Amino acid sequence: MSTEQPAGTELPMVKAEQVCKSFGRHQVLRGINLEVMPREVMCIIGPSGSGKSTFLRCINHLDKVSAGRLWVDGDLVGYREHGGKLHELRESEVARRRRDIGMVFQRFNLFPHRTAAENVMEAPMTVRRDSRSDAREQAGELLERVGLGDKLDHYPAELSGGQQQRVAIARALAMRPKLMLFDEPTSALDPELVGDVLAVMRQLAEDGMTMIVVTHEMGFAREAGDSLVFMDDGVVVETGKPRDVITAPRHERTQTFLSKVL
Ligand SMILES: Nc1ncnc2c1ncn2[C@@H]1O[C@H](COP(=O)(O)OP(=O)(O)OP(=O)(O)O)[C@@H](O)[C@H]1O
Ligand SMILES: [Mg+2]
Repeated sequence: MSTEQPAGTELPMVKAEQVCKSFGRHQVLRGINLEVMPREVMCIIGPSGSGKSTFLRCINHLDKVSAGRLWVDGDLVGYREHGGKLHELRESEVARRRRDIGMVFQRFNLFPHRTAAENVMEAPMTVRRDSRSDAREQAGELLERVGLGDKLDHYPAELSGGQQQRVAIARALAMRPKLMLFDEPTSALDPELVGDVLAVMRQLAEDGMTMIVVTHEMGFAREAGDSLVFMDDGVVVETGKPRDVITAPRHERTQTFLSKVL
């Protein structure tokens, strides 16, 4: 089977073809098909346990797909093709490709003993071997961009949850990713802190970043999303323009779910 994608048209940034994932006998993803085009913002909603996080983790190869295929920017995730055969990538190569993908989690996972700026400087210095002064300059710009230009030397414990999450976004951007994955980035935050984080994500979307956002912030999905996917029980039940899916869901399962979150 060919792993090439047809030339000519713009390549999707992410393409999933019949992606399946099992943990032991538990089949969590049961044939996910979708495409995310460059500069698209795709929001994913769905009940707890439907496989949303697992799908994001497959995209950057933190989880390995059990069957099906997944491409990021034309590259098959976890494999390269040579002489008509697929070869599993070495861990170093997996890590190299993973750098092109920024990931932001519900829990920010900042280094507690490092300042905001140092958290952002870490990967560029250790992975890209940027000089300290270059990394510091970039960290300053990125923290400015997420509205924390005055918090460079603050430690995570001195920042609110929303501020910490914005540092986490700046940190993910520091490797200049071509794709950003967000896994419920605001669901651990106090309600009054959610808006600032969503505003940063909106700006990122406007700047043209390709984003997949698992979120139940339906206002964000409607206004910033280009597409909305409803996942249930390891499959994509419904996908469409956010406004259409939200106001006129075609499937009963989508309707039932939306009636709970809207
Ligand atoms: N490493 C793992 N080992 C075994 N089972 C796992 C593992 N990771 C996830 N699962 C199972 O896969 C299913 C889907 O989990 P996943 O975290 O992808 O769901 P989700 O849609 O993100 O849910 P939530 O909305 O609660 O975050 C769950 O039943 C979970 O228990
Ligand atoms: Mg999840």
